[in-house]
Amino acid sequence: MKKILLTALALMMILPLTGVFAGGQTEDGAITVGANIYSFQDNFMNGVIKPELDRYAEELGLELDVVDSEGQQAKLNDQVDIFITKGVDVLAINLVDPASASSIIEKAKKAGIPLILFNKEATEAGVMNTYDKVWYVGTNSAESGIIQGEMMVADWKANADWDRNGDGAVQYVLLKGEPGHPDAEARTKYSVKAFTDAGIPADQLALEADPNWSTTHGNDKMAAWLTSGFGNDIELVICNNDGMAFGAINALKAANVQLPLYGVDALSQALQHIADGEMNGTVLNDGVNQARATLDLAKNAAMGKTVTEGTNWTLDTDGTKAVRVPYVAVTPENYKSFQ
Ligand code: GAL
Ligand code: CA
Repeated sequence: MKKILLTALALMMILPLTGVFAGGQTEDGAITVGANIYSFQDNFMNGVIKPELDRYAEELGLELDVVDSEGQQAKLNDQVDIFITKGVDVLAINLVDPASASSIIEKAKKAGIPLILFNKEATEAGVMNTYDKVWYVGTNSAESGIIQGEMMVADWKANADWDRNGDGAVQYVLLKGEPGHPDAEARTKYSVKAFTDAGIPADQLALEADPNWSTTHGNDKMAAWLTSGFGNDIELVICNNDGMAFGAINALKAANVQLPLYGVDALSQALQHIADGEMNGTVLNDGVNQARATLDLAKNAAMGKTVTEGTNWTLDTDGTKAVRVPYVAVTPENYKSFQ
């Protein structure tokens, strides 16, 4: 009896201490992270972010599980429920639908688990302030459009022959990413705004959006545009990401047409297209650092520390509780330093 009492007492003394690390920690004490990618079909998310999440988790000694949400928000909701049932210590979530953050935040809040949203910023107003343990890691979406626009305007001014019909205006087609996605909306807006801000009228001949930002979409739309009534009028191809740009390049090659063309992400294949003169520029979307920041914040949050403690990340001062990794212009002049 005395022994049982002593054991009970000892347990009571230990439990509050270990409670700091409560949750789904494995027996060896590793922090468990439940993560997803909105779709493993996405070149950038699957080719840049995911490999670095896997690699960096190992470096930090985190137990990471990354699942494929297959482009379905309902699937992601279920995956989050499963992670919570399993008792993960922290969630790192790449939203499928940027307007559905509240459903995920509510689940995390109810379970008392910290949540890092990454790459796709929530669009519901004020939603980040509904839970004290939710943060965002991504970029400043507008920056990518501004940089892409500045590159295009500088090149346009330097190449008088790009104005094929000599009317002083740029006739462009635009391959847009997911409608409603902050990156797609901002890139579409600011890339074109750079022309009008520079006093160059911009005529949109066509715009088509793809929720999957895919190469197939880029290929199919570009091929259709080239054989359409305005096919010969196109002077410039603007792509919200490199994946769609690759498709457009295929279609242009098949039609034996060369046009100025720009992307975003700076995937290694894009650097090769720049080297080959098939692409005029892209914008580095620094997925490696987005992945690292996501896990740095996740680890700190799981340990109950200030999320940026011991890191070089800083939270935006605009109340969005976000770490924003900068974009960088990639041109024929500097692309080698990104290879
Ligand atoms: C963007 C990226 C796109 C696509 C998208 C998915 O940041 O530039 O290529 O991956 O995220 O949300
Ligand atoms: Ca023109």
